[in-house]
Amino acid sequence: MLVRVQQRAPSDATLAGDRRFSPSVPALWEEQPWPAFSIPGATCWWAALADSHRQAAPGKTTKKTAESVPVTPTEDLMREHGVLQRILLIYEAGARRIGGGEDIDPVVFTQAAETMRDFIHDYHEKSEEELVFPRFKKAGRMVELVEVLQVQHTAGRKLTDRILQTAETSRGNKEQRTAMIDAMQATITLYRPHAAREDTNIFPTLRSLMTPNEFEELGETLEKSEVAKFGNDGFEKVAKRVEQLEKRIGTDDLAQATPKN
Ligand SMILES: [Fe+2]
Ligand SMILES: [Fe+2]
Repeated sequence: MLVRVQQRAPSDATLAGDRRFSPSVPALWEEQPWPAFSIPGATCWWAALADSHRQAAPGKTTKKTAESVPVTPTEDLMREHGVLQRILLIYEAGARRIGGGEDIDPVVFTQAAETMRDFIHDYHEKSEEELVFPRFKKAGRMVELVEVLQVQHTAGRKLTDRILQTAETSRGNKEQRTAMIDAMQATITLYRPHAAREDTNIFPTLRSLMTPNEFEELGETLEKSEVAKFGNDGFEKVAKRVEQLEKRIGTDDLAQATPKN
């Protein structure tokens, strides 16, 4: 069974030239055999894991952390929404600064939109469309909501294409700057409620449509897909890439969002 082991992204990760996700980073995944559990009443693997930890080596003072506990599929999807929200903050700051007449290097917008395309559209949303939404349709649950969400994925891809096409001329005349601002603001308007509905309606309900084994298998499938697409340590690399963009657009200092009075 594949077990996700949390690791920090390499500290020297840089933005420049990192347009493709290199697989040459420390392993995020390790093949680890699970112990042979025989625990009456243990109906799921994480319950068995927790039980084995409690029973292991009584009297030992070895420090334990929860890092070896696999990421659940819903946690996985929700933290990907965190990346999405941070890209939206970059768009929001970019639109405000362009609108205020500032000169912003278009590469910031291009790389933010490329991350949106590669990580959100081509990976996260593809996972939702292939592995999450069909379960709701099959169960007849939240079908109208799922249909709207799916339509919005298509609209989101078009907006990202528009941002990519418009970024190069975002330093141009007023009309060109306005086109860039409009595309970014439309993306913000689309995705904030979209992600909020998935976080509060779709993902919490997903468990009720699946058996524990199916839920476990979904987690493994999502992780395998992430590794196949982005290599080991994929999420951490993407988060680091977004953090570098935040530094360039000025959204990296969280404290600036705190009211002064
Ligand atoms: Fe979605
Ligand atoms: Fe989503």
